[in-house]
Amino acid sequence: MFTSVFLILCGVFGVKTDVMKTVFVTEGDDVTLHAGVSVMKEDVQILWMFGRKNPDTLITEIYKLKIFIFDSHVSVMKGKLQMDSQTGSLIIRNISSVLSGLYKVQIINTTTKYRRFNLTVYARVSLPVIERSSVVSVCQTSDCQKNTAFCIDPDKSLPCEVCAVMCSADNGADVSLSWFKNNERLNQTSSPDLNISLSLSLEIKERNNTYYCVAANPVNNLTTQLNFQEQCPQHTDLVHSCNFTEAVIRLVISALVCVATVAILVYDFRS
Ligand SMILES: *[C@@H]1O[C@H](CO)[C@@H](O)[C@H](O)[C@H]1NC(C)=O
Ligand SMILES: *[C@@H]1O[C@H](CO)[C@@H](O)[C@H](O)[C@H]1NC(C)=O
Ligand SMILES: *[C@@H]1O[C@H](CO)[C@@H](O)[C@H](O)[C@H]1NC(C)=O
Ligand SMILES: *[C@@H]1O[C@H](CO)[C@@H](O)[C@H](O)[C@H]1NC(C)=O
Ligand SMILES: *[C@@H]1O[C@H](CO)[C@@H](O)[C@H](O)[C@H]1NC(C)=O
Ligand SMILES: *[C@@H]1O[C@H](CO)[C@@H](O)[C@H](O)[C@H]1NC(C)=O
Ligand SMILES: *[C@@H]1O[C@H](CO)[C@@H](O)[C@H](O)[C@H]1NC(C)=O
Repeated sequence: MFTSVFLILCGVFGVKTDVMKTVFVTEGDDVTLHAGVSVMKEDVQILWMFGRKNPDTLITEIYKLKIFIFDSHVSVMKGKLQMDSQTGSLIIRNISSVLSGLYKVQIINTTTKYRRFNLTVYARVSLPVIERSSVVSVCQTSDCQKNTAFCIDPDKSLPCEVCAVMCSADNGADVSLSWFKNNERLNQTSSPDLNISLSLSLEIKERNNTYYCVAANPVNNLTTQLNFQEQCPQHTDLVHSCNFTEAVIRLVISALVCVATVAILVYDFRS
């Protein structure tokens, strides 16, 4: 009884099908989809098929050890397809996002075997750009301890300034943008609207950490590190440099006054 049910099922399907393999690749890559054949024989026929929703268009074939490429069926594949004559694997050169879709290989021998691939081509992510958006004074200038850049009172752990920065990157399929502090993810954003670039702001209170912004999709990512001097200059630094300039000016003026005084004295003395 069990055997006959099994035979009926085999009669209905009659083929061995692998589970669909998910493949993620980056635009511009050379991609190899393996047929799972180790040695080609003359009486083995291999067919590769492609389709966005259904792999129903024949693109390559090996028959009696001869390779046939039907890349004119799918114009975006023109010149990009190759087959490995030893293994029957499909090679796609310099893949583009329009070649995302379902691929199926049919290996016809004494029995027929299938393998299916769900291939997704992702674009390269763009390099995130960090811009300073504002520097907010938290405590009064007079309450700011210039040597530590922390407020004097009432809360000594409060920084004199909070620096707000904005990170932006181009959006794309499954792209996310994140802020990291050392190895800890602080915040993340993504959007299904690919026309608008992603951006994520961050308020920085501690200057003793490394902050970086990462744009990532499932196949690649790019990182930009926050540069405190450029994107978060300390107001207290500016005050110091202003004081320094002031000191120099004072020095020059007093030197001039001194020289003038000496000159007048010498003049008076002579006359
Ligand atoms: C890869 O394909 C793109 C178009 O999809 C083309 O602009 C580029 O020149 C190709 N690169 C190579 C190395 O053939
Ligand atoms: C074809 O079938 C023969 C006999 O069943 C088997 O030995 C051989 O490995 C098969 N070849 C391929 C490429 O599947
Ligand atoms: C193929 O993969 C894509 C992206 O992961 C998914 O959206 C789609 O539903 C999958 N298609 C099939 C038929 O599994
Ligand atoms: C993450 O970013 C969003 C949008 O910029 C903001 O509303 C939210 O408060 C942020 N969360 C944290 C933990 O910083
Ligand atoms: C994105 O832009 C394209 C053309 O630039 C337009 O056809 C499409 O409707 C836009 N999508 C959204 C969600 O605004
Ligand atoms: C950075 O400074 C803050 C405040 O002074 C302190 O709480 C924190 O532990 C410091 N972090 C590191 C990594 O030194
Ligand atoms: C970035 O890519 C590397 C491998 O190239 C991976 O180890 C890392 O986890 C990725 N980072 C993120 C934030 O996706």
